[in-house]
Amino acid sequence: MEDTSPPRVDEPADIGSLFNPFDPAQLEDPYPVYALARRHTPVFYSERLGVWVVTRHADLCTVLRDPAFSSAGSLEATTSFAPEVHAVLSEGYLTFTSLVQSDPPDHTRIRNAFNKALSPSRVAAMEPSIRKIANELIDGFVSEGEADLMSRFAYPLPGIVISDLLGIPRSDVAMLKPWSNDKQVLLAANETTARLVEAARGYVSLQRYFLEHFEDRAREPKDDLITLLLPKEMGGNAPLSVQEAVCNAMDLLAAGHETTSDLIGNGLVLFIEHPDQAAAVRADASLIPTAVDEILRADTPIRGMFRVAKTDYELGGATIPAGAKVFVLYGSGNRDEARFRDPDRFDIHRKDDGAHIAFGKGIHYCVGNALARLEARVAFELLLRRLPNVRYHPSLPAERRPYLILRGFERLPLAWDVSDRA
Ligand code: HEM
Repeated sequence: MEDTSPPRVDEPADIGSLFNPFDPAQLEDPYPVYALARRHTPVFYSERLGVWVVTRHADLCTVLRDPAFSSAGSLEATTSFAPEVHAVLSEGYLTFTSLVQSDPPDHTRIRNAFNKALSPSRVAAMEPSIRKIANELIDGFVSEGEADLMSRFAYPLPGIVISDLLGIPRSDVAMLKPWSNDKQVLLAANETTARLVEAARGYVSLQRYFLEHFEDRAREPKDDLITLLLPKEMGGNAPLSVQEAVCNAMDLLAAGHETTSDLIGNGLVLFIEHPDQAAAVRADASLIPTAVDEILRADTPIRGMFRVAKTDYELGGATIPAGAKVFVLYGSGNRDEARFRDPDRFDIHRKDDGAHIAFGKGIHYCVGNALARLEARVAFELLLRRLPNVRYHPSLPAERRPYLILRGFERLPLAWDVSDRA
């Protein structure tokens, strides 16, 4: 009889063909395959994705620090678009320039504008408003005793926060999200031409939306991120071109939203799986900031990002050829036994969690990390306090999202005790 059992994690295997981020078992738990790769083939080629995958913490730090790896164009589709798609895209900006996809000196210039817009003092000043939004969301479902925490809390909270930060109406986010997702469709480029044409229309609509908002702020500046990113040529102070301002504002919708939703969802599950640690956090809220870092390490929301090798590069026993795309697998580095003691154990008291690379490393280190940490801290404090005995739903299962880059839940139905004081 044919053996259909999954490969044992302690036997060397062809990691390249084994590694399949879309396989249901690996979506559920990718970590055994990452561990296998780190042990036997720490840098390997994935035919399926057409990329070199780097899995060890030390090798990841090397790639993230070495200018021999470029971020420019690293998220762009490798195939060229059909003329119909190109025609629609040429009605807007053709390139996908943004902070995360640029190298110095462009990166340094754009990053300076972002550092000001997301400065620690601006972020800290958002706490009362984040607390209010989070409490209002919880008010909306707490008395029901059960809810899908993704759609009722983890998804809307960062969506509202990022729209307030940008200065766009909260009610527009529902309209903008499909357009923002269209950009991902274009980047992945593995759809029919008809779908890519539709995605190109959404992408151009999103550009126009933000362009109009920049034009508005040029006439009437406000206390928001769009005003802070307003290009000089439109009367603002930021050293950005109009195209850079539009593309970066658009990118924040993706960078600052579902990443944080996934951090909240992944963290809730880790607390449910470790009730003793949830109890410790409930009893002492000052433990939450380190718990947030441990959640980021243990179930990293951005499992990886891309780079392009500028030259042939020897790493982890492999030679990555010049021009090749590299997938830096943060989620694997954060479980590396060479860097973390007992890496598969969730432990909010661990001392080495500061070394995690869930926000990246080097010049592209997440510029929104303080905001993400603040949202998560407020979210866990309020959820653990206001949803007593929060647990899995007795009959509805949690469902992971089938994404390559983001790791989180599509649905997370939970239940809790209803009390009068919630
Ligand atoms: C838990 C939530 C978040 C996670 C896990 C996360 C993760 C990351 C990672 C791994 C990078 C580095 C990308 C690379 O190496 O190429 C990054 C960059 C970035 N993040 Fe975040 N992020 C989060 C939240 C946010 C938020 C809330 C914002 C904005 C308000 C944001 C904006 C950005 C931007 C603009 C960059 C590009 C920085 C650069 O290239 O210099 N992120 N993020």
